[in-house]
Amino acid sequence: RRVLVLNGPNLGRLGSREPEKYGTTTFAELVGVCEKTGAELGFEVEVRQTDDEAELVGWLHEAADDRTPVVLNPAAFTHYSYALRDAIAQRTAPLIEIHLTNPATREEFRHTSVVAGVATGTIAGFGLDSYRLALRALTSLDS
Ligand code: DQA
Repeated sequence: RRVLVLNGPNLGRLGSREPEKYGTTTFAELVGVCEKTGAELGFEVEVRQTDDEAELVGWLHEAADDRTPVVLNPAAFTHYSYALRDAIAQRTAPLIEIHLTNPATREEFRHTSVVAGVATGTIAGFGLDSYRLALRALTSLDS
């Protein structure tokens, strides 16, 4: 079964980006972790990252059309992108919102997720394990 792991802006800079918050694992290593975890769970995982809202919306349309389950780290788009929310609302397969950090413990503007209300569920605050846990969660969801 195919799963898309989609990542929003600045996540391509993992490894060098604010390592005290996001850790020192690079984005390339994160891709490897997702592919390995996916393979263990019987998923064919494709990981993508973009800084472009339009591109991310396009990927969500693709997932909606194909009924592909999604693990999504919307990054900063989480907090303000109604376009992303509306794209997510169109799908029928599961979509799990994830974050490396726990936004609820951070700045006030991160406490709002405009995505959470249309996601199947949210996993936040476990670093790379947020990705592993989300892939595991997909194994027990109908899609
Ligand atoms: C993030 C949290 C967001 O608030 C932030 O804008 C990010 C990363 C996380 O994974 O912890 O870019 O989604």
